[in-house]
Amino acid sequence: MDETLNTVQADAWNGPEGDNWAEHSERGDAGEITDALLAAAAVGPHDHVLDIGCGTGETTLIAASRAPQGRAHGVDLSDVMLRRAKERAAAAGLANATFLRADVQCHPFVPGSFTVAISRFGVMFFADPVAAFANVATALRSGGRLVFVCPGPMSASPWYTTPMTALCHHLGRPGLPDSSMFSLADPVHITTVLHRAGYTDVRVKPLRAPLGFGPDLTTATGFYLNSGPLRALQETTGLTQETARHILAEALLPHLTPAGVQISGTHWLVEGTRD
Ligand SMILES: C[S@@+](CC[C@H](N)C(=O)[O-])C[C@H]1O[C@@H](n2cnc3c(N)ncnc32)[C@H](O)[C@@H]1O
Repeated sequence: MDETLNTVQADAWNGPEGDNWAEHSERGDAGEITDALLAAAAVGPHDHVLDIGCGTGETTLIAASRAPQGRAHGVDLSDVMLRRAKERAAAAGLANATFLRADVQCHPFVPGSFTVAISRFGVMFFADPVAAFANVATALRSGGRLVFVCPGPMSASPWYTTPMTALCHHLGRPGLPDSSMFSLADPVHITTVLHRAGYTDVRVKPLRAPLGFGPDLTTATGFYLNSGPLRALQETTGLTQETARHILAEALLPHLTPAGVQISGTHWLVEGTRD
């Protein structure tokens, strides 16, 4: 891999966080969100798509299938997640889906080599978001589009606050710990960052949609237990896995639907055009 600037993120996504996501890659994640993202990206048969922070590749594969004469290229910091993405591409027979381990913030992409860049929750973790989005702009051809979905404010994200509130209440802690997941929660900040990074026609629209955490309570509880914010809480407070598991299962039970554990939130669907 070439230079990595986001080393803390690289360590996390090549450690327990990446393992957790790779293990739960089929958890029925975000159908409505994925549909909205890809509808806004309007990938056509000849498009060359860059998937930022592609993780285990679900969105890369959908984009590749819509661009049979083009391609979709997923870039991520996590070896373990990319391994899963490559397995999925091979199983789907999608030879035009390719993957690379790299830091999107600084990877030397071939200038102008993509027509559209997409991301589902893969753009919130950059140490320098202006530099990262400017690097993506360089990779896009003039007039190329950037479309991504990121979490809205924490207060509009029950998928985060529901389990965290239950655990913090148990611990007697006031408030909830912040998370880098919410680094782009302010639409004014998003617009400023993208303008500074060289995008025009920036639009930020709310997207209310559920996130899926697995077909049953055991799977969903396991995913949350091993997620970054909950691991941090366990490490800093001495909360045991057993207690956390019990509290989580209770908090998640009201969200168990015939389609699995689903918790809603208001996210941002963001679009911009490279100058
Ligand atoms: C919340 S996950 C989302 C994964 C995937 N897009 C999905 O929807 O399942 C965030 C992903 O962004 C990746 N990521 C974070 N910072 C990155 C960077 N600087 N360059 C490339 N990937 C990055 C992580 O490795 C992780 O896979």
